[in-house]
Amino acid sequence: MSIEYDPFSTEAMRDPHPIYRELRAEGCPHFVEKRRAWALTLYDHLRTASLKNEWLDFTPGQTPSQLMLGEKGPHTFMTMNAPENRKWRGILEPFYAAGAVERELPRIRSLIESEFDQLRGRETFDVYRDFANRVMCLNAGYNLGIDRETAIVARDLIDRMILNRVPGQEGASTPDSQQAAGELGGILHQHVQRMRADPAAGGPQGIALRDAEVDGIRLTDEDLLAYLFSLLVVGSETTPMAVAGTLYYLAQHPEQKAMVLADHSLLPKAFRETCRYDQPTNMLARRAAKDFELGGAQVKAGDNLLFLYASANRDESRFEKAENFDINRENKGDMSFGIGAHFCLGAALAQAAAQIMLKSMLHAMEDYEVVEEECERAFGEHLNGYIRMVIRPRWK
Ligand code: HEM
Repeated sequence: MSIEYDPFSTEAMRDPHPIYRELRAEGCPHFVEKRRAWALTLYDHLRTASLKNEWLDFTPGQTPSQLMLGEKGPHTFMTMNAPENRKWRGILEPFYAAGAVERELPRIRSLIESEFDQLRGRETFDVYRDFANRVMCLNAGYNLGIDRETAIVARDLIDRMILNRVPGQEGASTPDSQQAAGELGGILHQHVQRMRADPAAGGPQGIALRDAEVDGIRLTDEDLLAYLFSLLVVGSETTPMAVAGTLYYLAQHPEQKAMVLADHSLLPKAFRETCRYDQPTNMLARRAAKDFELGGAQVKAGDNLLFLYASANRDESRFEKAENFDINRENKGDMSFGIGAHFCLGAALAQAAAQIMLKSMLHAMEDYEVVEEECERAFGEHLNGYIRMVIRPRWK
């Protein structure tokens, strides 16, 4: 019997993994008739398709609701096809290369330390909301010349826009999410005006985008706003989920937690294993640009394509005992940051910042426990992970 799978069903939005397990067992991409979409669940299929630029059309949108529900998304290199996307992406790449991130570490470390100082001594705190999400949003704000107070307001608006699904709701368009999007748009519109009036306004990345010219073209106000909006969103949600998840899954596996508490150099492995095991970017979307065959599926030009990263990262044919959280596993090229022309721009930043955040927490604690009843996971088709994760530290 064919498996019932709809990415917008309550069941899939609550916990997709049982369905992904069944879909992987089919051994080929699964067609979701209702959405005219092929769900790619296996590691090899995702990898092969990601490297075939000629198969993929990103212009209808990179998120499931943009692709399948026609929600309007910001126009940036994220929704451009290769090789066109490289031109605008290339303006930002110098800021995100490993060496550039390394040079930024003193500033990032001091941001993290000053945020963490406000939490020291508290009986409990929320790793996502009180710490990691705040740090990442303030960092994204710095890059775009957005002041601290505004970045914190923006962070709350982003959460309201993205993490707003309720069972039965398809897509993001609730009155509250529309209002939050409108408010954020208003704030960023004013910021764009400031950047136009003052050559020094916009932070290093905002200024680079404003002043860049590609094929003789400069970004319009609307384009610039789309870039600011996208960079704030992608820079502030996923990393905090994975930081919170790292402490959560270590607490679930006391012997692994004991190893990490005794040796903090294991933190990068623990973070990377969390990204594999509980992939924050559950799925991303594209449309087929031409007819092609993949793993027995006859994909037609115009079909929707769902790249189920969270499933590929638990593909048993790639990862031994894939359903187990194990920080000691060899990283055999997980899919956590994607691959190909749309590989995660922020991969080096995410890993460096996460490592510093996790280290500062564990340096200050003998141990910690998770307050399970004060944990909450994102509910939705696009992002996976903890958006509330309260711990009770035993401070040193
Ligand atoms: C644990 C944290 C993160 C994870 C797991 C993650 C994951 C991913 C994945 C899987 C993609 C590929 C998208 C696709 O296939 O369509 C992606 C793209 C992207 N990521 Fe990340 N990301 C993380 C953090 C960040 C951060 C901190 C930034 C900061 C700027 C960032 C910026 C981007 C951008 C701009 C893209 C789009 C690249 C393009 O379309 O050319 N990410 N990310």
